[in-house]
Amino acid sequence: MRRETARALQQLLAAARDEGHDLLALSGYRSYQEQREVLDQETRAFGAARAEQQVAPPGHSEHQLGVAVDVTTARKPYDLDQTFGAEPEGLWVAANAARFGFVISYPAGKSAVTGYVYEPWHIRYVGVPLAEEIAASGLTLTEYLPLHGMDGCPSA
Ligand code: DAL
Ligand code: ZN
Repeated sequence: MRRETARALQQLLAAARDEGHDLLALSGYRSYQEQREVLDQETRAFGAARAEQQVAPPGHSEHQLGVAVDVTTARKPYDLDQTFGAEPEGLWVAANAARFGFVISYPAGKSAVTGYVYEPWHIRYVGVPLAEEIAASGLTLTEYLPLHGMDGCPSA
């Protein structure tokens, strides 16, 4: 994981702990090969159509950038499922991630925009100012960046 992301993550985990939530980081940086293994595993378990909505193809995952991390509760450490969003820890992440510079990349109801199912556990570091603006906008990062000329594409 990138150093700045790791530092922000440590601060987020410490703040969660201070507020009574036992969060842990389950998956951070992944190499191309590791991402391929995650996708293969998911494809074997659920079939290609579902796997494709849950796992990015190798070369396309935010995890490969070293800025994304899957966080979960220590009470159910290896369950990455959507019920996390309604657990106290998941609600805390949704309400507080931006303070530490993270956005939820794949929010509920945004699959048509993001291409992925709701992943309340997957957060991506973008820095505090941008994370706070995105949280206030109600948009996903995918929507926000092109609207603000930050998607790397020259405007028409
Ligand atoms: N689960 C997210 C989409 C990833 O594989 O990067
Ligand atoms: Zn993830």
